[in-house]
Amino acid sequence: MLGPVILAASRSDKMRRIVSAAPVTKPVVNRFIPGETVDQVIPIVEDLTQAGLEVTLDVVGEDITEVEQSHAARDAYLQLIERLAELGLGEKAEMSVKLSMFGQALEGGHELALANVRPVVEAAAAIGTTVTLDAEDHTTLDSMFAIHEELRKDFPQTGCVIQAYLFRTEADARRLADNGSRVRIVKGAYKEPAEVAYQDKAEIDKAYVRILKILMDGEGYPMIGSHDPRLIAIGQELARKAGRKLDEYEFQMLYGIRSEEHLRLAAEGHRMRVYTAYGTDWYGYFMRRLAEKPANLLFFVRSMITK
Ligand code: FDA
Repeated sequence: MLGPVILAASRSDKMRRIVSAAPVTKPVVNRFIPGETVDQVIPIVEDLTQAGLEVTLDVVGEDITEVEQSHAARDAYLQLIERLAELGLGEKAEMSVKLSMFGQALEGGHELALANVRPVVEAAAAIGTTVTLDAEDHTTLDSMFAIHEELRKDFPQTGCVIQAYLFRTEADARRLADNGSRVRIVKGAYKEPAEVAYQDKAEIDKAYVRILKILMDGEGYPMIGSHDPRLIAIGQELARKAGRKLDEYEFQMLYGIRSEEHLRLAAEGHRMRVYTAYGTDWYGYFMRRLAEKPANLLFFVRSMITK
């Protein structure tokens, strides 16, 4: 029951101000968002890649209100890519972006987001890596998929995310599997109404398996984004049945969640990519992590009380 309440709070400006200002928040936030600047996150990327893992980097931020912020988001990614290039980390690190941070919800936002994300995709390609477009709430997805298709004309490696909880996703998966896309499949992290999304966890898991099978049997590159041990085992089995080699799909998990499992899968020879978020505008990302596992909230509240 707590999950939906936390998700509602994740979009509240008042809660954002309270939670962001609480001094005790920091250590709890750091578990999921290990830095605020490029300089702080680069050593983390080095540690992860030296341990045999790959990464996808997210400069946190979403739902901006001014055009200037969308340019700042673009520039933050360009700065990150420059640092990755200097350190020769291009092959091991890709980027994940939220189009709402690139201006998608502003007036003329579709074009603005496309104009902002294109140079990031170009710069990533120039250092041998790529960008994945994260999936946000369902109202943003038609625009996200159209931008994905547009970018793929010049940069076919550009990826996107699909969410198993949405009714529309099986059809999206078929289209993306047919056109050979890189696709991350996740359960879905937003508060969605019953008209568009399964609400029941078991239904979502069943949909995830159906969709993953479509991706594995298709022409694209499936990226299994989940910490769920059952889905990971099913993913391995579906890949085997589809005759995929170990470099023809990958697992992805979030930084700070089931880290021992990241290493176990990598040691088995799987490509394992750790989604590593950093930056100052961490509120929305952090609240979604609390909503996924309400025990995180208890830990957070306890740390506030015992300070
Ligand atoms: P589930 O929630 O059932 O968790 C399985 C187990 O993992 C739990 O029992 C627990 O042990 C552990 N776990 C999961 N979440 C935890 C947490 N927050 N804290 C501690 N333990 C936790 N969503 C979206 O809507 N758009 C997107 O673009 C993305 N992108 C994305 C990238 C990657 C790489 C991942 C792994 C996930 C996303 N997500 C996402 C989030 C996704 O939709 C989903 O909310 C989370 O992955 C949690 O679902 P699981 O599949 O892990 O299963």
